[in-house]
Amino acid sequence: MNILGIESSCDETSVAVISGDKLTANLISSQDFHKNYGGVVPELSSRAHLQIVKPLVKDALEKSKLDLHDIDLIAATTGPGLIGALLVGLTFAKGLALSLKKPFISVNHIEGHIFSGFLMKDKPEFPFLALVVSGGHTLLLYVKSFSEIVQLGTTVDDAAGEAFDKVSKMIGFGYPGGPQIQAAAKLGNENKISFPIAGLDHPYNFSFSGLKTAVLRYIQKNYKSSENIPPENLNDIAASFQKAVVGALLQNCEKALNSFDVKSISLVGGVAANEYLREILRALAEKHNKKFVVPDLEFCGDNAAMIAFRAKILYENGMRDSLSAKPYPSLKKNHFLSHRNI
Ligand code: KG4
Ligand code: ZN
Repeated sequence: MNILGIESSCDETSVAVISGDKLTANLISSQDFHKNYGGVVPELSSRAHLQIVKPLVKDALEKSKLDLHDIDLIAATTGPGLIGALLVGLTFAKGLALSLKKPFISVNHIEGHIFSGFLMKDKPEFPFLALVVSGGHTLLLYVKSFSEIVQLGTTVDDAAGEAFDKVSKMIGFGYPGGPQIQAAAKLGNENKISFPIAGLDHPYNFSFSGLKTAVLRYIQKNYKSSENIPPENLNDIAASFQKAVVGALLQNCEKALNSFDVKSISLVGGVAANEYLREILRALAEKHNKKFVVPDLEFCGDNAAMIAFRAKILYENGMRDSLSAKPYPSLKKNHFLSHRNI
């Protein structure tokens, strides 16, 4: 069984092939030009996906030593994401499925991230706790099986990655903010500034907008504007901010580990690339005697391998989608629970 997966929800075009149980290609083309605009420009993103998707499919097939006619199943991300960007990958995939007369499966992007730990040799064991941290989402989930996902908590405002990106911009770094804050934080003192962790009346929800405002106020009070911040202090701000974000994530994960009987904990999504977060959650898992699974970097950010893998599971459980599947921009409450019934 050969599966072709396409991901185009934001600023990465990605095409992957899973052949049997083996991932034979996971090509990712990142739209780096968005850094010139301080964030993703949706229209430019759609156009870039349009230019690259076809050659990327060709390259992924070549790398897998397969012909288009060897593909048995076509899958694409259907949401959440930028509507124009989603439309490109989804329409391309549906067109391929129609012309090749092959089955088609649309994949929820977050479900892709949730199960991305299964792309690793050492896989999560059910039930597991999943912390999904990306540019658009921060979710704490109890994952009972491939078809039962219970949302324990979510962000009430900004996503963790969004907070990294906004604070990065605030202190004069570029987009995407995560990698730059991580690099600066390594040189700084994380105990220099005590940024707040939001206290919410929900045990598993998150809030990062207060933290973002605290960083802004700190800059205004001490330096008036970001241009006046000496480099070493920039590093301290980055380190102290990163510590606060990771502290908030850690706190809720620990609460969940104390209340739910899980075998593993899996850290997924773009922010899962953060080394400090990986270390802290690994230590938490060890403390609680749980298996810790975090994907390799190529599977943390947006990638089509996770989309093809999720499609494989859905297909094996009898799912098929019609070619009228439409893209959706945001994750509705419990969306990944209600729209699948495998
Ligand atoms: O999952 P992803 O690639 O796209 C979405 O689905 O949103 O996540 C992108 C996010 C961005 O906000 C980016 O700043 C963040 O992941 N990110 C990081 C790191 N690398 C990427 N955040 C913290 N530390 C990193 N090393
Ligand atoms: Zn993502």
